[in-house]
Amino acid sequence: MVQSVQVQDEKEAIRTALKKKDFLTLDEFDSKELLYMLDEAMQLKQMQKAGKPHPFLNGKVLGMIFEKSSTRTRVSFEVGMLQLGGNAIFLSSKDIQLGRGESVYDTANVLSRYVDGIMIRTFEHSKIVEFAEAASVPVINGLTNEHHPTQVLADLLTIFEHKGSFENLKICYIGDGNNMAHSLIEGAVKVGMDISIASPKGYAPDDSIVQQAKKVALQTGANIHILENPIEAVSGADVIVTDVWASMGQEEEQQKRMEIFKPYQVNAELCKYAKEDFIFLHCLPAHRGEEVTAEIIDGKHSVVFDEAENRLHAQKAILKLLMKN
Ligand code: CP
Ligand code: NVA
Repeated sequence: MVQSVQVQDEKEAIRTALKKKDFLTLDEFDSKELLYMLDEAMQLKQMQKAGKPHPFLNGKVLGMIFEKSSTRTRVSFEVGMLQLGGNAIFLSSKDIQLGRGESVYDTANVLSRYVDGIMIRTFEHSKIVEFAEAASVPVINGLTNEHHPTQVLADLLTIFEHKGSFENLKICYIGDGNNMAHSLIEGAVKVGMDISIASPKGYAPDDSIVQQAKKVALQTGANIHILENPIEAVSGADVIVTDVWASMGQEEEQQKRMEIFKPYQVNAELCKYAKEDFIFLHCLPAHRGEEVTAEIIDGKHSVVFDEAENRLHAQKAILKLLMKN
């Protein structure tokens, strides 16, 4: 049990609230709902490890639209649906009519007649919002330019498993104020963790997300610091997170970003400022020698493969809670 969601009536109310809901950003869920999802993920993980069948989505089908590449998101959603007794259909935007200009509205309406849930990985966040408004089945964000909420739910699960609690924890994120930074800010404040972000000038997280998170932080007791100095951000941290310097769709900026982000590499020198027992997270794919050195990502503090595994368990919880009858 993660914490606090123990009363039966409260659990039932959360289950009802989550049913048929979309999963577009972490900010759309309150702290108790997120903790409940983590609890559910841990139970599903235990069942899977014990070899206990758990066909909660027997006969259900998830449609998965990908407008960008993916290894983890695609495989973990597909395997998750199979383990839950359902099925998943991979829909590359290159192959479906959406890629040839069919409207989001028509695509969402048509797919809602065939499948029980839709996962989308796309570019502008506004597109998934438009899709979710038109769809009559739950829509799950498998990454947009602005958010990566399923990844961060898995990250929270990984942090909880390694640290035993979210209390008195400081997490820091070093690098681009991108989709990962945004979802991490939203998730951390909801569970009451202090978060520091260090990015170069001009690459800080979106201010509207930071301001909204500050409001949430007032209720949960978390602190947020948006910084430029990576040493300041890492100082005393229990968890260090980074991500690529050029995200999907920013390939043309790769060279320029390599120069700008050089002082933001997570390496042994920088990690000296963290707590001795810090853990290192990266959503992957990683570029060793760029945003992180091999010494750190392949070293004893790294939990990146637990983190990747937890995509499966966290997403199964989301799928079960949103799609179960
Ligand atoms: N972390 C993550 O979303 O990985 P993929 O791009 O491989 O799905
Ligand atoms: N920020 C990265 C995350 C990849 C999982 C990207 O958007 O490409």
